[in-house]
Amino acid sequence: MTSIFVLTTRGLEAISADEIAALPDVTVTSTSYRRINAECTGALAPLLDLRTVDDVYLKVGSWEDVLHTRDMLAQFNAWSDHLELAQAAANINTVRPIPEKPLFSVSVSFLGKRNYNADEVKVSIADSVTFTHGWEYTADDRNANLNIRVFIEHEQAIVGVRLGQHAQHERLYKMVERPGALEPTVASAMLRLVDVQAGHRLLDPCCGSGTILIEAALMGAVVHGGDNDSEAIKATRENMKDAAVQGTVEQWDARVLPLRDGSVRRVVTNLPWGRQTSVNEELGSFYQQVCWELERIVSNKGRIAILTSVPHLLQFNYLQPLQSIEISLFGQNPTISVYGHDR
Ligand SMILES: C[S@@+](CC[C@H](N)C(=O)[O-])C[C@H]1O[C@@H](n2cnc3c(N)ncnc32)[C@H](O)[C@@H]1O
Repeated sequence: MTSIFVLTTRGLEAISADEIAALPDVTVTSTSYRRINAECTGALAPLLDLRTVDDVYLKVGSWEDVLHTRDMLAQFNAWSDHLELAQAAANINTVRPIPEKPLFSVSVSFLGKRNYNADEVKVSIADSVTFTHGWEYTADDRNANLNIRVFIEHEQAIVGVRLGQHAQHERLYKMVERPGALEPTVASAMLRLVDVQAGHRLLDPCCGSGTILIEAALMGAVVHGGDNDSEAIKATRENMKDAAVQGTVEQWDARVLPLRDGSVRRVVTNLPWGRQTSVNEELGSFYQQVCWELERIVSNKGRIAILTSVPHLLQFNYLQPLQSIEISLFGQNPTISVYGHDR
């Protein structure tokens, strides 16, 4: 059995926990702020296919009584001698090749005030690992075979080794980025919230660089999107090509969509909210018109999920609010609001 913990976006813990729990041989044991703890009794490879999570770590240790004083730096060094790194490297070697003496990096984050900084903790841990295992340290994570990650939260710390070579929230397909581009993990979580299934028709009326459309197409949805900016259309088409997915993309005004009444089953979108992308008019009136239009085109059993920092501007005549989740993104706290005709 392998103990793992998974990092996700603040607010998406329950959605990621559901995605993890659906994997064979994985049991979720607890969920806390941005983290899901789980046990895996089978192959680790399926964990690399999780779409809503930032990263998956194999747990190699946990420390209690982590104080704010500088003498902790020697303590981190001593504790690190006992991290179960050789076992973790062997387990990770089952999903990707790890050299006998891997190059490793260390990442440290903490909550709570300290008399030491993250770089000093890194040095202390790296010294121990180099001495105990003969592994070579690199400050550049991109060159490392293994990343050791330490989360210090008040008086406790948890240490893991990342399962993937690179951060899991980074997708290989994303080549052309635009301001306001959504994290693919958040796009994927929004699609799960409205239960997008293979074959569903999925609309993103303000698609930007196409993150939502691509994640939906990878789930087997029939995707249709648009944007009023020709550069966005170009970026989406290039990104879709890079991701090897198909879909229809058009330049349009989301307030007047060229779509029939009740013709779309799922709408997932990230509306402009004025900080990274702007609309050339008053935001309230833009939102009102887009909401009316979405209400017109969504089918009877349809669902809409909208991410915005101004959820109070979302107003529908008939659609009911079904769920509302505040998340942390780009240093802001936008909300994913889900609407539908029924519960
Ligand atoms: C927050 S961004 C969407 C980002 C996108 N989810 C991504 O991952 O790249 C909002 C998008 O709405 C588009 N937009 C603004 N006004 C619009 C309108 N009237 N009709 C359609 N799209 C519009 C902007 O050009 C921008 O690309």
